[in-house]
Amino acid sequence: MEGRIVAGVLAPHPPHLVYADNPPQNEPTAECGWETLRWGYERLRKDLDAIDFDTIVILSPHWQTYVGHHFLGVEQFKSLSVDPVFPNLFRYHYDLKVDVALAQAICAAGSKAGLVTKMMENPDFRVDYGTIVSCHLTRPNWDKPIVGISSCRSAAYYSVEVMAEQAKALAAATCAAIKASGKRVVLLASNSLSHRHFTHEAEVPEDMSREHIMSHAQYLWDMRAIDLLRNGHTEQFLDEMPEFTSQAISETDAGALSWMLQCMDMPKYKAELYGYGSVIGTGNAVMGWFPETS
Ligand SMILES: [Fe+2]
Repeated sequence: MEGRIVAGVLAPHPPHLVYADNPPQNEPTAECGWETLRWGYERLRKDLDAIDFDTIVILSPHWQTYVGHHFLGVEQFKSLSVDPVFPNLFRYHYDLKVDVALAQAICAAGSKAGLVTKMMENPDFRVDYGTIVSCHLTRPNWDKPIVGISSCRSAAYYSVEVMAEQAKALAAATCAAIKASGKRVVLLASNSLSHRHFTHEAEVPEDMSREHIMSHAQYLWDMRAIDLLRNGHTEQFLDEMPEFTSQAISETDAGALSWMLQCMDMPKYKAELYGYGSVIGTGNAVMGWFPETS
């Protein structure tokens, strides 16, 4: 049977959400914090539990490879991930399995389409915290193998327009490989929306009296983006993407969301909004697209 994408998720990766959840894998512990987003992820997990799938494919802004897209290419990665900016919040012991066959297939299809692609086959490679946080929050029991794809940062190196073109080509390669694999796949775009953030942390990081969006302008851009995506105006959202990315300093610059929406054939149906909230001033939405039931 032909493989297919059964869900796409906008799955932001602030390490604060893992910290506030207090899973056994993370060393620091918290009292509470960022509940609207954590409860949003909880509802997403419930919906994903009702879907049968084989593999999670994720593109993360924090695995940055300036020459092409790279793919996790070892069966298992196990180590300690420490957030470089928030080592006080995130020291996470991960142990994850990789769907190497699907990773190789997407890598080869991308290369055939003219993209620069490469398998990461160093068993001691440290998996980035964006991949770990988004996967943990989506599937905390880690019972599904993942395909991890890096961001080649073409928005920073060239322009948002170049990023959009490359995301489209990578999406076509991803879809072709998934179809040929016969697998049922969930895609994760691991990114925040607006991304300007505070530069000072509260004495108690989970002190929610200190948490709010960085600026009203940023908030308005997030509301615009969510409104378009929620109502199936995907094409318009991607048309406005360059402006959104530069005005809201958005983490969409990494191409993860563009890639995912292209993979899902530019949905015209409504996305499910599970939650929106700020983390150190950045704007984060947890959203899901379900092609089989929409
Ligand atoms: Fe990030």
